[in-house]
Amino acid sequence: MKTLDAKALRQLWFDFFTERGHKIIRSASLIPENDPTVLFTTAGMHPLVPYLLGEKHPEGNRLADVQKCVRTGDIDEVGDAGHCTFFEMLGNWSLGDYFKSEMIPWSYEFLTRKLGIDKDKLAVSVFAGDEDCPADTASAELWEKCGIPKENIFFLPKSNNWWGPAGITGPCGPDTEMFIDTGKPKCSEHCSPACDCGKYLEIWNDVFMEFNKNADGKYEPLKQKNVDTGMGLERTLCILQGKKSVYETDLFAPVIAKISSLCGKSYGEDENITKAMRIVADHVRTSVFMIGDEKGVVCSNVDQGYILRRLLRRAIRYSKTLELPPHSLVSIADAVLEIYDGVYPELNENADKIRDEIAREEERFEHTLQGGIKEFEKLRTYLVGDTISGKAAFKLYDTYGFPIEMTVELAAENGLKVNVEDFEKAFKEHQEKSHQGAEQKFKGGLADNTEKTARLHTATHLMHKALKEVLHDENANQKGSNITEERLRFDFTFPRPLTPEEIRAVEDKVNEAIQADVEIVCEEMTVDEARKRGAVGLFASKYGEKVKVYTMGKYSMEICGGPHAKRTGELGKFKIIKEQSSSAGVRRIKAILEE
Ligand code: ALA
Repeated sequence: MKTLDAKALRQLWFDFFTERGHKIIRSASLIPENDPTVLFTTAGMHPLVPYLLGEKHPEGNRLADVQKCVRTGDIDEVGDAGHCTFFEMLGNWSLGDYFKSEMIPWSYEFLTRKLGIDKDKLAVSVFAGDEDCPADTASAELWEKCGIPKENIFFLPKSNNWWGPAGITGPCGPDTEMFIDTGKPKCSEHCSPACDCGKYLEIWNDVFMEFNKNADGKYEPLKQKNVDTGMGLERTLCILQGKKSVYETDLFAPVIAKISSLCGKSYGEDENITKAMRIVADHVRTSVFMIGDEKGVVCSNVDQGYILRRLLRRAIRYSKTLELPPHSLVSIADAVLEIYDGVYPELNENADKIRDEIAREEERFEHTLQGGIKEFEKLRTYLVGDTISGKAAFKLYDTYGFPIEMTVELAAENGLKVNVEDFEKAFKEHQEKSHQGAEQKFKGGLADNTEKTARLHTATHLMHKALKEVLHDENANQKGSNITEERLRFDFTFPRPLTPEEIRAVEDKVNEAIQADVEIVCEEMTVDEARKRGAVGLFASKYGEKVKVYTMGKYSMEICGGPHAKRTGELGKFKIIKEQSSSAGVRRIKAILEE
């Protein structure tokens, strides 16, 4: 195997795909463009969804890049050898151009020739087939032709060998994944890349995106067959450099060294210290990328800003375990900036902003952290039973700035639980009191909360559904919404202008729903339940998983914070006043309700 550093591996990737006719594109922002269903870009394909669905990309139909990604589902697992909240994904795409018979030999060539991986150390998995899509024997045959022995080709089900969609709906398909066989003995006779015994380490994933998953959960063939691949930079470096964890590669080692020199403790000596160092290193790195992003995030109590706050506060808490001097995170951030110097220019451009924001959050939380820990200790000492009440958790949040997840983590470390449901109730009551209800999620959506805007908001839901039906396109999805007292404005994915007939048909459908005068029912349920029932949209929930779902008879069912009219009959007459382009692949409609 070749020992490459991060810069060399990125370059190798770019060169390999440039030689094969690809254009190298810039990493998109960490904040998805107009996509309310997720807070961060989670994969290289994410910014390319419109093009995977058929829109023309200005750079052509062969692309490659390295994409900044954040996955925060497993923040609490950070600290072990492999989990990072931020990572770079090397990717390449065929937008309706080449397919399996090119991609698989290329993957084999890159892994064996460019990375120098011994072919006998490679194992691959392919899709085993089910009622949605047949077994991917074509990929298996191509791997065999490359020289992978049959016994190293594993057929696995959808749970392993299907990728996407990134949100609830969108492009997806069977994939073939590539693994390094570490040479460890099989953990059982069924041992395969599907198990996490550590014998097989995933290195690359080729997705053959031929399907679109619609809101009903059905898989429809896409207009074009795409290839979407992803190789995690950190993980691959770890393998190539023969390290036990990503924290020992050149992307982290200088940061760990910095932490070590600041606290006078060594990495690897003690399990708790090692874990704390990894957490601080990971969370500071992710914060640097979030704040330094072209759509820079700042700490707040909602959405991306809340994730940033959680990461920084968790880093601050663990810096106490390390006994780091106060305000160390800024110097640690400087070590991160040095590593990416010349790679992501936006970080250098925003260096002062990054330092200021981290320093400010350290300042804010340093003040209350010790008091909060004392309060927690008091709670623990006098606790009857094993569950911290929602009210107590809310006090930790409100007075001491403890994100609920931090209280849950602290509790778990002490063998305790937290009543998160009651916390949410207390939180909501507080929000309502301070007029910061769920409606705030629509900032830039709903300008205010009058009855008029609520009615226009209801009309937006009806129109969203009508558009999907009239245009026969489940992907005519909301991209943005802005409502004033006078009109609604709605952006959605669609490749061409609407015809006058289509506009009229959408108006008719909405007016039909208004005339039916159905009751608008709001229910609370988990995101999963909402998805199962076929609700549209997913506004990532911050606390717990419950979301509000608004149902308007057979006319609409959407996840949403509200507010809405009580009955559709209150809406008056719906009229579209403008239909225009908003950006590439996105249309904009303005509509009104006549009294
Ligand atoms: N989109 C695929 C992944 O993230 C390549 O693994």
